[in-house]
Amino acid sequence: MSKGPGVQKMFDAIAGRYDMMNRVMTLGQDQRWRRFVVKKAGNPDAEMSLDLATGTGDIAALMVDTYGAAVVGADFSLNMLFEARSRFAEKQINWQACDANNLPFADRVFDSVTFGYLLRNVDDAGKVLKEVFRVLRKGGKVVCLDTTPPAKNMIYPFLQFYFRFCIPALGKIIANDETAYAYLTGSTMEFYTAEKLARLFKEAGFTQVRFQKFMFGTIAVHWGEKSD
Ligand SMILES: C[S@@+](CC[C@H](N)C(=O)[O-])C[C@H]1O[C@@H](n2cnc3c(N)ncnc32)[C@H](O)[C@@H]1O
Repeated sequence: MSKGPGVQKMFDAIAGRYDMMNRVMTLGQDQRWRRFVVKKAGNPDAEMSLDLATGTGDIAALMVDTYGAAVVGADFSLNMLFEARSRFAEKQINWQACDANNLPFADRVFDSVTFGYLLRNVDDAGKVLKEVFRVLRKGGKVVCLDTTPPAKNMIYPFLQFYFRFCIPALGKIIANDETAYAYLTGSTMEFYTAEKLARLFKEAGFTQVRFQKFMFGTIAVHWGEKSD
C-alpha cells in the first residue's frame, strides 16, 4: 500500500503545531539547516525556484528573502499549505497543491529545487529524484534536507533513546500526536544512509553530489547539479 494517503492525513492533522514541535525537537537548530539548504541552492541568476514538500513554507520564504527570485512552494497537504500562506502572506510565493511523485510542471523550468524532509515520506525516493531532475533546467541545483539514521558509535544509545522515547513524548505533549512523531523515529531509522542516498541522486542523473551531516549525524543535507 502506498504511504501517500497516510502521510498526507498525518501532516494535515499536525499542521497547526508543526513549527513549534520542530523548534523544540531540534533545540532551535532547524532554521540553521534550512539556511544552509538555501545557501547551497544559491544561483544569483535564478529566475524560478521550487520548494517541494514546502510544508509551512520556511525554505520557500528564505529563498525569496535571500535571492528575490520567483518561488513556488508545493505540497500535497492542504493544511500545511494554509499555514504557509497565512505565515508568509506578505511574500510573493506561489503556493501549489501537488504530489512530488507526479509534478504538474513542464520539463526544465526551475533553476533550483529544494525539499526538506520529503524523501523519507515517499514510496520510491529514486522516482521522486527523477521527477525533480526532469523539472530542473540544465545547470540547475537540487538540495535536500532530511533526517538520516545515525551511525552506531558511542553516542548511538543516547540518540536511540532520544528518538525512541523523547521525540514521541514531545509529540504527545506539544502536537497532541504521539503516533506522528513515533513515525518520524521509525522512518528515520529505516531511511537510507547519507552515502546510499547520495548514490540515488547520482543514479537519477545528478552530478557534483555532496552531503553534510548535522546534529550528531542525524540530519543530512545533500546537494547536486543537473550538468550542462
Ligand atoms: C516534515 S514536513 C517538511 C516541511 C518543510 N519542508 C520543512 O522544512 O519544515 C514534510 C512535508 O512533506 C509533504 N509531503 C510528503 N510527501 C509528499 C508528496 N508525495 N508530495 C508532496 N508533498 C509531500 C508533507 O505534506 C509535509 O508537509
